[in-house]
Amino acid sequence: MARYLVTGGAGFIGRHLCAQLLDEGHEVRVVDSLLDQVHGGQPRADVLNEVEFIHGDLRDRAITAAAVRNVDAIFHLAAEVGVGQSMYEIDRYVGGNDLATANLLQEVIARPVERIVVASSMSVYGEGLYVTPDGNRIENAGRTSEQIQARQWDPVGPNGERLTPTATDETKQISLSSIYALTKFVQEQQVLITTRAYGMSAVALRLFNVFGPGQALSNPYTGVLAIFASRLLNNERPLVFEDGCQRRDFVHVSDVARAFRLAMATQDANGEVINVGAGEPHSICDVGKMLAHAMDRDIEPDVLNEARAGDIRHCFGDLSKAERILGFRPDYKLSDKLGELAEWVARQQATDRVRDAKRELETRGLVA
Ligand SMILES: NC(=O)c1ccc[n+]([C@@H]2O[C@H](COP(=O)([O-])OP(=O)(O)OC[C@H]3O[C@@H](n4cnc5c(N)ncnc54)[C@H](O)[C@@H]3O)[C@@H](O)[C@H]2O)c1
Repeated sequence: MARYLVTGGAGFIGRHLCAQLLDEGHEVRVVDSLLDQVHGGQPRADVLNEVEFIHGDLRDRAITAAAVRNVDAIFHLAAEVGVGQSMYEIDRYVGGNDLATANLLQEVIARPVERIVVASSMSVYGEGLYVTPDGNRIENAGRTSEQIQARQWDPVGPNGERLTPTATDETKQISLSSIYALTKFVQEQQVLITTRAYGMSAVALRLFNVFGPGQALSNPYTGVLAIFASRLLNNERPLVFEDGCQRRDFVHVSDVARAFRLAMATQDANGEVINVGAGEPHSICDVGKMLAHAMDRDIEPDVLNEARAGDIRHCFGDLSKAERILGFRPDYKLSDKLGELAEWVARQQATDRVRDAKRELETRGLVA
């Protein structure tokens, strides 16, 4: 049995991970700043009563020093998670994610651990991988602002040819299109570089869209399913940017927590970056409809035909590396677990702040 630190362990994924670690008989310490945007108005989660809990921000060196004392290994999940918000609160994201990680690593140099598993994100890929009609890989697909203004939502090839989105693997070139993505890439690389230099080990998991019970419903900057659930719970239409045909990969939080445990336990994973998704693309509009159905709401998504700065069109994961190295295969598909999500949501209250969040972007010219 090991003694683990889980940073951001009071958050959505962190709580599920803590519960699984406790079930396995490990000792768990959590450090979390309990950000108001994530936790405001929510009762303290039960699982936090079963761990050693340190309330504080990783940017505070005294907190970080206390957090890493006498732990065998670290799951580093603490981060600010809003893509849109990161485009106008840059100092908050760089500080909360990257300075915080730097502090953690400074302490770890002084008190080495066996391994750090860091939560990275599919956002580091930017636009996902595409193939041309001839089968050539296109790693740098993207859309110009002129294309977006013309509502030409799908990226096209260098000669205007049609591109087909395909599963994105870890070798795809990095393409950072938001400050959030930049901070996640810096987090993952800080951890990999520092642990390698000091003879420790590390794994970075690039998570796709995580869903399940416990995501912060009143946080308008969180995952799309939680945002849609909050709208539907308040009998409002989910707001869908672009034409709603953009595709994402939704992975259940229990699968993600299991992937973290496998990444910690698998010797051969040292130094690797590994995708964790469900490998099944869904259009955002379909997701809105599926969730409305699961929540028993006769409410159609509101398709805005507007684009947010930093958004990408399609990205879903190639999971072959996760299977090969970690033996990870998702247990669940989106459709398996929407009922569970709907049941949980029905027992919650959610303040719908989605319109306010959209206005914040609009006043800064970040919606086209
Ligand atoms: N949920 C997803 O779909 C998804 C996808 C890709 C990557 N990730 C990554 O997974 C991790 C967990 O995400 P989540 O969905 O559970 O988010 P979350 O917001 O529910 O949890 C993050 C937790 O970190 C804490 N925190 C933030 N900054 C901190 C700091 N400087 N010091 C201490 N605590 C801090 C917050 O209070 C919160 O409890 C994050 O690193 C996120 O970037 C999540």
